Amino acid sequence: MKAVRLSEHGGPEVLSVEEVDRPEPGGHELLVEVEAAGVNPVDTYFRDGSYEPVGLPFTPGVDVAGTVAEVGEFVEGFDEGDRVYGTGIGGGAAQGAYAEFATVPEDRLVHLPEGVDATEAGGAGVAACTSWRALVDHAGLDPAEWCLVHGGSGGVGHAAVQLGASVGARVITTAAPEYHDAVRDLGADVVLDYGRDDLADAVLEASNGGVDAVLDHRLDDYLQFDADVAAPDATVVGIGENEPDPGFSNDGVARSKDVGYKFMSMFNTPGLRVPLGGVAHLMDAGDISIEVARTYDLEEAPEAQRAVMEDSFLGKLVVVP
Ligand SMILES: NC(=O)c1ccc[n+]([C@@H]2O[C@H](COP(=O)([O-])OP(=O)(O)OC[C@H]3O[C@@H](n4cnc5c(N)ncnc54)[C@H](OP(=O)(O)O)[C@@H]3O)[C@@H](O)[C@H]2O)c1
Repeated sequence: MKAVRLSEHGGPEVLSVEEVDRPEPGGHELLVEVEAAGVNPVDTYFRDGSYEPVGLPFTPGVDVAGTVAEVGEFVEGFDEGDRVYGTGIGGGAAQGAYAEFATVPEDRLVHLPEGVDATEAGGAGVAACTSWRALVDHAGLDPAEWCLVHGGSGGVGHAAVQLGASVGARVITTAAPEYHDAVRDLGADVVLDYGRDDLADAVLEASNGGVDAVLDHRLDDYLQFDADVAAPDATVVGIGENEPDPGFSNDGVARSKDVGYKFMSMFNTPGLRVPLGGVAHLMDAGDISIEVARTYDLEEAPEAQRAVMEDSFLGKLVVVP
């Protein structure tokens, strides 16, 4: 089979397509014929060696959607030919999904409803499960609460906007002006340009004094901002940053409002099948749709990984083997 591999860490150019043996599923794994594999920033961190160590040669791709080709000896509840999607695969010694086939642990996959497009589902895993873990598990977002999603046109952001709306929360999001209409159509109640000088005032005004939950993917830009726009007892969930040294200019603002901060990795989710199943239901019901901005074949994986870090797009980039 064909698989994208890297044999040394480096830039996108270290990725190339190779002919490799089709993998055998372990006892608690399934072999999936890959129809789509989402492209995520974390794929590039595995590639450049800045995330946890991986065994080389390594195939990237933590998200997958496709069809079960073989079922491991101890796996129950899946049959050959079932449509599935999953996330949290690849990393360490395990290979990822930028390939024609991938082995996937049974606890990182769920069935894909007939009505849900495989390309869309291939882009759903990290984006939607991170949103679920952040807003549902950590922030405990309730109907009518105010939720701020920074960067609502991005992979995680556009899923979080839809998830927030689907639980009945009131969603404020930020985006570049070209995406405002699209992000409003996804369910945001208020869309603000992240470049505004008066962004904090605009968030406070829109939320009548402060938001109950924040999803922040740029903590080095927004750690203090989050405290400034938080309502009393709000929860700020941090999922990322550009520089690893975010800091407060006045942490007293956070203390004065008992703001809770939770920094998370989707990979630590206990029971990934819960958010995967929930998101599958919401995709089937039409409450979450993954916007696929561009697709790439395996040979274009270097360009896909360049684009996910450097380009602006709405939603997700997806590799389609
Ligand atoms: N901890 C976890 O479990 C976890 C899980 C998933 C992702 N992450 C991290 O979260 C980050 C986002 O991931 P992603 O897949 O959503 O990436 P993405 O699809 O590239 O989205 C990033 C978004 O940030 C927006 N943005 C740029 N400048 C901004 C600003 N000043 N304020 C607010 N938004 C701004 C971009 O908008 P433009 O297009 O207008 O530039 C883009 O929509 C990455 O750092 C990733 O590693 C962490």
